[in-house]
Amino acid sequence: MENPWLKIPAEDYEGHMSAPNVQQLQMLGEIFADLLKELSPKSICVLGCATGNGFEYLIGKNAERIVGVDINPEYISLCKSRFVKSLNGPEFICADLNEIDFPESSFDLVHAALIFEYVDVESLMDKIRKWLRPAGNLSVVLQMAGSGDPNVSETPYHSVKLLSDFIELVEPEEFKRIAVRNRLVLSNESEIKSSAGKRFTKMIFKK
Ligand SMILES: C[S@@+](CC[C@H](N)C(=O)[O-])C[C@H]1O[C@@H](n2cnc3c(N)ncnc32)[C@H](O)[C@@H]1O
Repeated sequence: MENPWLKIPAEDYEGHMSAPNVQQLQMLGEIFADLLKELSPKSICVLGCATGNGFEYLIGKNAERIVGVDINPEYISLCKSRFVKSLNGPEFICADLNEIDFPESSFDLVHAALIFEYVDVESLMDKIRKWLRPAGNLSVVLQMAGSGDPNVSETPYHSVKLLSDFIELVEPEEFKRIAVRNRLVLSNESEIKSSAGKRFTKMIFKK
C-alpha cells in the first residue's frame, strides 16, 4: 500500500492541522520549543518533520546538527525553503522511516511527534536506540484513543481523509513496553489536551 501521506498536499496538511477543530500545529510547536529549552541538544533529528512546524524555535540555538526526515517531497522542499537560510546547515531528508538508517550515536535528541502512528514501531524504536548518543533522549507524542472524535478529524481538507484507513494509534503502555525492551528509560510522561479537545501522551525516554 502506498503511503497516503504522499497524496496530501502541504497546503491541505497545514490547513487541516490548524483548523479550529484540530489546532495541533501550535500545540506540537510548543512541545518542541519546551524540549529544546529543557534538553539543549547539540544534535537533533526530527522524524516526520512535515513542513517544518517548530523549526523556528531552533533559530539562534547553535545546534551543531539539525536533521529533519519526512516521506513527502513537497513538505521537505518547503522545509528547505523556509529554514535553509535561518538555520546552520540543516539537513532535510526525504525518506521512508521504515527504510532510512543513521550511524550509531548520531543524535542527542530524536523527536517523534505523531509519527509512530504511521510506521513499524518495533523496527523504528530499535533503530532510534542505535542512533541516540549515550544519555541521549527520545521524545514522543502519541495520539490517544477515545478522544470522542474520529482518529482523523473532519475538516474541509478532503485529502487528509486518506489517513483514516492508515493511521494505527499506538497504546502508550504498549509503547513503553517496546521502549523498555530496547533499554530506553522513561524519564517523563504527561497527558496533554489540544485546544480542540483531543488527548495526547507526551513521553521522554533516555538511553
Ligand atoms: C502528523 S505529521 C507530524 C507532525 C510533526 N511532527 C509536528 O510536530 O508538527 C506526520 C508526518 O509524518 C510523515 N510520515 C508518515 N509516514 C512516514 C514514513 N513512513 N516515513 C517518513 N515520514 C512519514 C508525514 O508525511 C507527515 O509529515
